[in-house]
Amino acid sequence: MAEIDWEKLFEEADRARQRAVAPYSHFHVGAAVLTREGKVYTGCNVEVSSYSLTLCAERVALFKALSEGERDFVAVAVVADAEQPTPPCGACRQVIWDFARQAQIGMRGESGQVKILRADELFPEAFDQEFLPET
Ligand code: THU
Repeated sequence: MAEIDWEKLFEEADRARQRAVAPYSHFHVGAAVLTREGKVYTGCNVEVSSYSLTLCAERVALFKALSEGERDFVAVAVVADAEQPTPPCGACRQVIWDFARQAQIGMRGESGQVKILRADELFPEAFDQEFLPET
């Protein structure tokens, strides 16, 4: 398993943050996901004039990786234009739970403060496919 190099992962997330498309909120977010084999996929938030169509950086990064066939993730790093570490929104927590629940989720603020949580700490009492009827 690839060792988690958080410094590198936060740097990749920060590079993605600089590509954020955020003309409405002006809040730039970047994410980087690390696969067990050591590949990194990045994402930034992409805002749409019909605001609710906006996608967060975390989901962009994960969907990019999933669409390339990746299924096994060990870490998700998030950085934003904020002093304190920015945690993933509720929608992203569900997506992380569904596709990367074994991953550690790291957030770094501009102050340099880092917070690293497990998915079950970030999203307790999660809903998932276990609650759905058998098909
Ligand atoms: N946003 C993210 O990309 N990730 C988060 O974890 C929190 C929020 C984005 C969505 C929107 O473009 C902007 O930040 C303000 O909510």
